[in-house]
Amino acid sequence: MSRKNFIAGNWKMNTTADQARALAQEVVAVVGQVDDVDVAVCPPYTNLATVAEVIKGSNVKLGAQDVHWEPKGAFTGKVSCDMLKNVGVTYVIVGHSEQRSYFGETDETVNKKTKAVLAADLLPIVCVGETLEERKSGSMDKVIDRQVRGAFDGISAQDAEKCTIAYEPVWAIGTGETASPEQANQAHVFIRKIVSELFGEQISNIIRIQYGGSMKPDNAKALLAQSDVDGGLIGGAALKAGDFAGIVQPK
Ligand code: PGA
Repeated sequence: MSRKNFIAGNWKMNTTADQARALAQEVVAVVGQVDDVDVAVCPPYTNLATVAEVIKGSNVKLGAQDVHWEPKGAFTGKVSCDMLKNVGVTYVIVGHSEQRSYFGETDETVNKKTKAVLAADLLPIVCVGETLEERKSGSMDKVIDRQVRGAFDGISAQDAEKCTIAYEPVWAIGTGETASPEQANQAHVFIRKIVSELFGEQISNIIRIQYGGSMKPDNAKALLAQSDVDGGLIGGAALKAGDFAGIVQPK
């Protein structure tokens, strides 16, 4: 089963509107016509509309970094799926480890967000991954199993097929430390097995699993060459168009 690679840039809390416009223009210049890899950029909420305008007509799609599951109402500081959709968003990152560790994201809220994103006809990128302590103490499999089953609880196979999963070992995020290609692939195979148990083998072969955590132009090729690594969720290296391009099309 061949899956099309999917590289998404997670800009996190970086870029003012001016900077976002400039970065998006550079990204379009270097990877805007790529069609053998799906490409998306996920700027902060305030820059979604700006970036939407810049990427229009290119192959670069727009993603958001988070969402609230409720459709509207008194939820100060939150943004709904409809709001995202209305500015041109296609993908929504859900359950990023920074949301989990700093902002109280739980498996339950990840599940609610994933369902809301799917109900709005947007495409979730569901993040999972173990911390260093969890890896060292041998509970990595248990943690990932809980996160994947939690995220997909009550979701139909038909909807699950539209999701991307991002495996992001927390110890590799922003640290310069990358999982080895073999370590990454082992985790991806494990995740795919859980998906297969939940939704059957066919769906598990369709779902793309991105790797995230210090992915760079110089390690992208080896990671992407792994059987079960279907792309990347890129933080730091997504803030430089040249580096991002070097991951989308690694040499
Ligand atoms: P990083 O971040 O590439 O800077 O490690 C990845 C992520 O958190 O999505």
